[in-house]
Amino acid sequence: MYSCRAVSNLLRIISVMLSLAGFLTAQTDPGPRSGAPGAGAAIPGLTVKEGKFFHSGQAQFTEVQSVRGTIAGTDEGLGPRFNLNSCSGCHAFPAIGGSSPASNPQVTVAPSSQVNPLLLLNIISATGPVREVRFKSDGGVHDLFTIMGRSDTPSGCNISQPDFAGHVASNDVIFRIPTPAFGAGLIETIPDATIAANAVSYPSLAIQGHVNRNGNDGTITRFGWKAQNKSLVIFAGEAYNVEQGVTNELFPDERGEGGVQDPAACRVVPSAQDHTNYEQTQPQSIPSDSVSFANFMRFLAPPAPVSSYGNVTAASINNGRTQFGNAGCAVCHTPSMQTGNHSTLALANKPANLYSDLLVHNMGLLGDGISQGSAGPNDFRTAPLWGVGQRLFFLHDGRTSDLLEAIKAHDADGADTASEAHIVLNNFRALSASDRQDILNFLRSL
Ligand code: HEC
Ligand code: HEC
Repeated sequence: MYSCRAVSNLLRIISVMLSLAGFLTAQTDPGPRSGAPGAGAAIPGLTVKEGKFFHSGQAQFTEVQSVRGTIAGTDEGLGPRFNLNSCSGCHAFPAIGGSSPASNPQVTVAPSSQVNPLLLLNIISATGPVREVRFKSDGGVHDLFTIMGRSDTPSGCNISQPDFAGHVASNDVIFRIPTPAFGAGLIETIPDATIAANAVSYPSLAIQGHVNRNGNDGTITRFGWKAQNKSLVIFAGEAYNVEQGVTNELFPDERGEGGVQDPAACRVVPSAQDHTNYEQTQPQSIPSDSVSFANFMRFLAPPAPVSSYGNVTAASINNGRTQFGNAGCAVCHTPSMQTGNHSTLALANKPANLYSDLLVHNMGLLGDGISQGSAGPNDFRTAPLWGVGQRLFFLHDGRTSDLLEAIKAHDADGADTASEAHIVLNNFRALSASDRQDILNFLRSL
């Protein structure tokens, strides 16, 4: 004879097992939404002249760099070290300005003698995502490639890639994938006070995000996976130097490797390689590339959500949105913030439906061990979810293309109480299978 208690325990165990099995099997990510990209155009309401700066900035964003600009169709300044040779190569999908494309352009941007070791180490692969490497030991970005072995390699230049194999062996390597720049001007225009007001405590959910700040002027930073960067101009100048090795007026020094600049023989174009074009007279030709990139990104429209798609009904999407709120996802993934006043009217006092509080949160096991500003080793900015409907790779390191996996990683081992998302993930797991499916359907509508 079983006691009542034993039976009820047994039933409880069976029901937990069934619900776990249900969690693992019942929902599927509908996959990247097909059809026209819901992003990539200019934000509505720009003046005619602002629109011209958007288009000239977009052209610069797609420009390819070579060492001296002697290769047809390229501009000078690449290297000595780089991760790719154009902004739009990494910020490519589903439209220029977005995130990683399906096939990784990094596998063809350098000679196979440089690419093959990275393929073998699983740092990059042909099927993506585009990746940038940081070492935990120094926190910094270490460029994948050098300008060796090219048709335009300067004579006398002789440098090599960092010892990636050694750093992989000592578990010192982490990855970052591109964050999309759609709607970036709206993000830039949200007042500090609006972001700061999100930093309230939710004791019943154990959630307490905090802002990241610029160490120099003390204002709130908001761009990048750790909300580490202040503005689009600064991010553009930094990316030009870090990703392509192009020095500029914001970041005038070549970075070299491990804090040591490469020999002068490799630095054949004087700094600033990108600069204000003093001799030009046509208005869009005068700003530096860095400023032009920022104009393009600032004026990029936010991704446009859809109300239904494929087999997914409006009712499912609407219920998904409700359940996203009920589970507590929306506590971090704040559906909307209002921009402040701005000199560009198209950006002023507009809703930014970004699904992020722009705060950083402790994500426990998902952390990558890198500190940036006041974002600690396990902290990440709540990833804005606008545009995830057409995104191919998720999370800071692009570890998955599956939305459900991205959600599960918020509570990596199912009991990660260090993650601020732990209780919300319990709520998510407690939803019915069809409610969870509706959340996935909702996310792919964004
Ligand atoms: C090798 C790939 C690569 C290239 C080339 C590249 N980026 Fe990025 N971009 C990234 C990665 C990776 C991140 C996320 C970095 C982080 O937060 O750690 C990023 C983030 C950004 C962001 C932040 C967006 C946000 O809201 O968080 C901006 C802005 C940006 N890049 C602009 C540029 C510009 C401008 C260029 C060209 C000069 C460029 N990027 C070239 C990989 C790239
Ligand atoms: C405690 C705050 C918090 C809560 C609660 C939360 N998230 Fe997140 N979410 C984040 C952070 C931070 C990231 C970025 C993590 C990373 O990249 O490693 C993220 C990333 C994501 C991503 C991947 C987006 C991308 O750009 O790669 C999805 C999808 C997502 N969250 C959905 C959800 C859903 C659905 C819920 C509710 C079940 C939820 N999140 C609850 C903070 C939160």
